[in-house]
Amino acid sequence: MKNILVTGAAGFIGFHLCLKLKNEGFNALGIDNFNDYYDVSLKKYRARILKKANIKIYKIDINESKKIEDLFNQNNFNAVIHLAAQAGVRYSFVEPLKYVNSNLVGFVKLLEIVKKFNTKFIFASSSSVYGLNEKIPFNTTDNTDLPANLYGATKKANESIAFAYYNLYNIPMTCLRFFTVYGPFGRPDMAYFSFTKNILENKPIDLFNYGNMERDFTYIDDIVEGIFASIDKCSNFEIFNLGNSKTVNLKYFVEILEKNLNKKAILNFSALQKGEMIKTFADIEKSKIFLNFNPKTSIEEGLKKFTKWYVDYFSSSLKISGINSKRSEAIIE
Ligand SMILES: NC(=O)c1ccc[n+]([C@@H]2O[C@H](COP(=O)([O-])OP(=O)(O)OC[C@H]3O[C@@H](n4cnc5c(N)ncnc54)[C@H](O)[C@@H]3O)[C@@H](O)[C@H]2O)c1
Repeated sequence: MKNILVTGAAGFIGFHLCLKLKNEGFNALGIDNFNDYYDVSLKKYRARILKKANIKIYKIDINESKKIEDLFNQNNFNAVIHLAAQAGVRYSFVEPLKYVNSNLVGFVKLLEIVKKFNTKFIFASSSSVYGLNEKIPFNTTDNTDLPANLYGATKKANESIAFAYYNLYNIPMTCLRFFTVYGPFGRPDMAYFSFTKNILENKPIDLFNYGNMERDFTYIDDIVEGIFASIDKCSNFEIFNLGNSKTVNLKYFVEILEKNLNKKAILNFSALQKGEMIKTFADIEKSKIFLNFNPKTSIEEGLKKFTKWYVDYFSSSLKISGINSKRSEAIIE
């Protein structure tokens, strides 16, 4: 039996990961600060499902070192899977200090505890670290010195800081660069979610760069497989891309949603926003070799599962009480 601390457990990826860990016979314990970046009721809903599955989740911020140390003292954690972060690209233009607080200060505070207890550390990075890199597909050896926005910069900083801790204290570290993760229970601030909402509500959707954008969309179950595989492999310091390794054009992406929802989208084409990447595309050869990572879900299949979940969720009594419209923008990370 392995004891794993999952930070950001009420979040989209953390929630799915905790269920996977439980199914594999691991003992997952989650923490999350339940912040209101997007509708808290969705986080609470996920947490209720985790509790029903006998997975403990505590309302703790990663900056609350004393509380986290207490958890370490009470549980003999074999690994920390650190997913808690201030996510989202566009929100970093509006609330930069939230990124500093969670992604930088909180990150180092957590590493100080990990150092004290000498625990394996697996953490979420992002395709955003590739920033202005133009070489396609993105390889983990590519230059990541040109982040296109603050979110990407904090993720890049995480990687450098983690390496420094590995170098100084020999803590095993694995960095996982996720590529646009989507699926049921997903994030309301991301494009697939807000597009679906707007199509159903007859509201226009913004297609930046006149729809000429491509993303490497990765289905949640595939991501969770990759994270799970990394637990045993975490020894030195390694960086992996976890992406589907297939790019999808945004206009085609909308067509799939239209088909699934049986409704036409109202498209609002506009110029590229500063700070956005035009294309993401993961080179996953290293992840295939070391993590046996083989994403299986096509965009058509994955979006079918997502739209089905979305329609069921919003037509049920569990409905989220009003997604925060300010932040339900077409954000893709
Ligand atoms: N979803 C994606 O497409 C994607 C892509 C690349 C990287 N990532 C990264 O993966 C991780 C998980 O992302 P997600 O999509 O599940 O996002 P999410 O926002 O759904 O989950 C993050 C969770 O962390 C919690 N949190 C934030 N700050 C915290 C703090 N200071 N203390 C404790 N909890 C805190 C939030 O309440 C949230 O529940 C993040 O690090 C994100 O940057 C996600």
